Amino acid sequence: MARTCCYTPPVSKVLLAPSVLSANFTRLGQSVTAAQEAGCDYLHLDVMDGHFVPNLTFGPGIVSAIKSVSTVPLDVHLMIEQPERFVERFAEAGADIITVHAEATSHLHRLLSQVRESGARVGLALNPLTPLTVLEGALPYLDLALIMSVNPGFGGQEFIQATTLRLETVRRMRDRSNPNCLIEVDGGINKDTAPLAVAAGAEVLVAGSAVFGSMGDVATNIATLREAVARVTDQAGELRG
Ligand code: DX5
Ligand code: ZN
Repeated sequence: MARTCCYTPPVSKVLLAPSVLSANFTRLGQSVTAAQEAGCDYLHLDVMDGHFVPNLTFGPGIVSAIKSVSTVPLDVHLMIEQPERFVERFAEAGADIITVHAEATSHLHRLLSQVRESGARVGLALNPLTPLTVLEGALPYLDLALIMSVNPGFGGQEFIQATTLRLETVRRMRDRSNPNCLIEVDGGINKDTAPLAVAAGAEVLVAGSAVFGSMGDVATNIATLREAVARVTDQAGELRG
């Protein structure tokens, strides 16, 4: 069979992290339960402060409320300036993974240590044109590297195609310096772009509108994403075998 993807996924299963940003906030608990019953792996919670990104969402109170009904790890994506002011608050609220943006702090090494000390797993996010050298230096300290495939701030944006080239580079870096660090991609992930991201090296897919948007119910949407990804992972298995 012709080799059509560059990398074989390093985890046996690609992880799905639905973003509740696109859920109906009047029925947040039901949305969370529906995603969990449909077999999601994480819940992705987008925290925005109106400064780092031009949008506002929620804080530790909502994270804590979601924690009370969650059965999967909470993947908290902090799109806030000076995240060092809030790390402990989100850890106490129940964040299992705290992902901070490299662009949001002047003291990244200190911040990553602070997240580690909070007890949460450590994630680092990069905006679409932030040089990957930042990530290269930080990789030994990370559990998760989040490559943004849109400009952060809003759900429902179009996947930036050049992200696949970045993912391929990140995958090589990760394999070299920290094989335990997961590679996550966030923004514009749907049944068409998910296979591209996985083929390029992504292992955790964040999806907001493709899971909670107006099309279909949550279980069907999650199944559709899994099927789209399975075509890539099955092919990778055949290539390995
Ligand atoms: C965007 C957020 C994303 C967002 C993704 O800034 O970080 O997590 O919810 O939404 P979709 O999947 O609709 O692009
Ligand atoms: Zn996000």
